[in-house]
Amino acid sequence: MKNMSTNITWHNTTVEKGDYRKKNGHHSGVLWFTGLSGSGKSSIANQLNKLLYEKGVQTYLLDGDNVRHGLNHDLGFNEADRKENIRRIGEVAKLFADSGTIVLTAFISPYQEDRDGVRALLGENEFLEIHVDCPLSACEKRDPKGLYKKARAGEIKGFTGIDAPYESPDKPEAVVKSDQFNVQECAEQILTLLEDKNWIKGKEGA
Ligand SMILES: Nc1ncnc2c1ncn2[C@@H]1O[C@H](COP(=O)(O)OP(=O)(O)OP(=O)(O)O)[C@@H](O)[C@H]1O
Ligand SMILES: [Mg+2]
Repeated sequence: MKNMSTNITWHNTTVEKGDYRKKNGHHSGVLWFTGLSGSGKSSIANQLNKLLYEKGVQTYLLDGDNVRHGLNHDLGFNEADRKENIRRIGEVAKLFADSGTIVLTAFISPYQEDRDGVRALLGENEFLEIHVDCPLSACEKRDPKGLYKKARAGEIKGFTGIDAPYESPDKPEAVVKSDQFNVQECAEQILTLLEDKNWIKGKEGA
């Protein structure tokens, strides 16, 4: 997108990311859930968000449909709009990370290039790409929103996995097999990753 803004200067803030992290007592960054529709991104991110909330961790969940209702209501599902959707979400997620928050995002985000674009916005160790890996056949069987049925009937065009591509992550920080583990188990796997990476305190309070 063309940069329309001129005569703007970045204003440095007195209270910075490090201060927020110190106050919160944990790291901040982005947990980027990606996967097919129905793979379980929203369900797992929601459950993980609850577990983190109960531990007193400062979090926020950005979820696909909700963001499309507001910030991105002007965008559709063609390739250019999907890219812009992810770019804006990436910028918002970065602001949350800057505010000391662990932000969980649940978007199909089918293109590696777009996910890499968000990664590039963030610093080292501030972006964890989590592949919610579930075979298309299982997602289609679940079909929680009835979207696969509509896509197969030709009522929705360009549906990821049916007539639009999904590019599996090249080097995700984590893969959760949501056809083999239940929602709670998948959420706990990511919780353990956050402890291992020292984003949050572990069981021993380390
Ligand atoms: N192990 C599991 N992990 C996640 N979801 C599961 C699991 N097992 C069953 N499900 C069910 O699968 C469905 C997943 O739907 P969900 O809305 O979380 O997917 P999504 O990836 O967010 O899809 P979309 O991209 O369309 O928003 C839910 O109905 C959930 O209860
Ligand atoms: Mg979802």
